[in-house]
Amino acid sequence: MFKLLVMVSGFGSNLQAIIDHCPADIQVISDNPNAYGLTRAQDAGLKTHVIKTKDKQQFNHDLLKCAQAFSPDLIALAGFMRILSADFIQPFEDKIINIHPSLLPQYKGLNTHQRVLDAGDKIHGTTLHFVNEALDAGPIIAQGRISLENHDNASTLKDKVQKIEHILYPIVINWFIDGRISKKENTIYFDNRPIEQGIQFTQQELEMI
Ligand code: GRF
Repeated sequence: MFKLLVMVSGFGSNLQAIIDHCPADIQVISDNPNAYGLTRAQDAGLKTHVIKTKDKQQFNHDLLKCAQAFSPDLIALAGFMRILSADFIQPFEDKIINIHPSLLPQYKGLNTHQRVLDAGDKIHGTTLHFVNEALDAGPIIAQGRISLENHDNASTLKDKVQKIEHILYPIVINWFIDGRISKKENTIYFDNRPIEQGIQFTQQELEMI
């Protein structure tokens, strides 16, 4: 069975969507012993691991050992708030993906919803991308878009973006499970056809799935 390692730091709503919709042997790692994501995983009967070492080098070492022991086919970051070291990324090259709450390459980093509002943007969304050593900068697999409405604030945007994340993340992981995604250098292939800027979905399209 496809082995999926999900890494979380907090609430784990994306983890829950993955548990509910992805047919895989799932294990969960968290850097936060109080992450509600761990409770979700345990409730689903999944094996969990907590790595809470403060020392950065030791943390990276423990994380790598833990992940290697499972030998996952794919690692899905789902609200994992630590930046991964090159020593972790290299052994899992092309096997780590992340979900980021903006339409990358716009708004890398934190507070994306407020930054979208401050800029007066009309479109916002979420991005599934491969993880490389640069922050939020790996090749894009898929994006889901939402339109902003006049009454939106950072909280309503977070809710809207997460709603589509919960649909899009399982879809993308299921593409990996079904062997539909591959990557050579910086080009991603979907069903053996190169995709340039990631596969794009509107909110309406995602809600109809
Ligand atoms: C998501 O919005 C994701 O885009 C970002 O962190 C959030 C995690 O939320 N990387 P949850 O823990 O899955 O509820």
